[in-house]
Amino acid sequence: MKGTVDFDSIREDFPILGTKTTNDRPLVYLDSAATSQKPRKVINAVSRFYRTCNANPHRGSYKISEAATEAYEKSKKKAARLINAGAWEEIVYTRNTTESINLVAQTWADENIGKGDHILISEMEHHSNLVPWLMLAHRKGAVLDYIRLNGSRTGLDEGSMEEQMAKSPKLVSITQCSNVLGAIVDVKKVARRAHERGAKVLVDGAQSVPHMSVDVREIGADFLAFSAHKMLGPSGVGVLWGRRELLEQMPPFLGGGQMIRSVEFQDFTTTELPWKFEAGTANIEGAVGFGAALDYLRKIGMDRIREHDVMLTKYALEGMSRLKGVEAFGPGLDRLDSKAGVVSFEIAGAHPHDVATIFDGEGVAIRAGHHCAMPLVVQILGKPALARMSFYLYNNAQDVDAGIAAIEKVKRTFKLK
Ligand code: ALA
Repeated sequence: MKGTVDFDSIREDFPILGTKTTNDRPLVYLDSAATSQKPRKVINAVSRFYRTCNANPHRGSYKISEAATEAYEKSKKKAARLINAGAWEEIVYTRNTTESINLVAQTWADENIGKGDHILISEMEHHSNLVPWLMLAHRKGAVLDYIRLNGSRTGLDEGSMEEQMAKSPKLVSITQCSNVLGAIVDVKKVARRAHERGAKVLVDGAQSVPHMSVDVREIGADFLAFSAHKMLGPSGVGVLWGRRELLEQMPPFLGGGQMIRSVEFQDFTTTELPWKFEAGTANIEGAVGFGAALDYLRKIGMDRIREHDVMLTKYALEGMSRLKGVEAFGPGLDRLDSKAGVVSFEIAGAHPHDVATIFDGEGVAIRAGHHCAMPLVVQILGKPALARMSFYLYNNAQDVDAGIAAIEKVKRTFKLK
């Protein structure tokens, strides 16, 4: 397989990829949709921060606190550049994508969505872009509507989208890439239709921002949520980008230190963006590590990462199509332009949890379950669970071969034809 990224040198940057796992097998990591591995540059940036300038930003008037402040803000500037935000002050750090979406649900949506109002999502949302809206709908007496999947379950149904948009929802909150189907959504088109109807648009970029170029101004979104840990950065850092005028109008999320301008016994005023939404001490070392991750990704280039994902996905789908009784879900070989490096699959006659256990015995790490998308997996696809392989820039063809060989091992184990 020909590649545009220098796989071997990239792999060497990730210490965990040189380790052994179950049965003393070399680790083959095919679960990057759950979390990504970390390159040495990120690990070192976190360690260097602790060793050289660990202090609380914004609170100290001494040198290492200033250094911590600078490092924290620099990380936000890099995140802003990645998604082409209007200003780094539009970048709010949270704990993860889930918290970013809950922030919008409990601030903007709480103020702007009331009884009988419609909120529109799709049938392929992760629980993080579903449960906060259910909670809001229950709290407010609002209505949660769904854009249906198309007949082949490879993307959204256009007719259903039009039907739902006609209800003039107040908010459309949509994933840019399904963590189960790997289906990439044309969020620019969704945003245009939503805006024509007067809705605000939140894009769940948890599975897209780490894997492709995402430009918030080009999409025309109002909010974008994603997580550092899925893009080589540490856990515990999420991003909420919002258009400045919206963030400015929104009430604060959590109350406490850092988010205030002044506090009296009976009142308080909030401070400027983005600190208004960042109460308490932040995950400073996580933000610094995320900054290093963003440097790393930028050096390779998001378009090259996307190309690499497509190559691996194509190779995996081709390999699986040669095996009897193996079904892959989501867009297939004919739709690679709208397929991310996420391949959920089923082996007829083998439970996905047994599949994952047999994979583990071969040293191949995959995820099995409902993938935090129960309505999609259980109700729409009608499966109790699915096995899933997912790829990132450090994977190569040999990793895919190991995944295919593990499927063959499952078939041999269960004596499947
Ligand atoms: N949302 C992550 C996944 O799909 C955890 O695995």
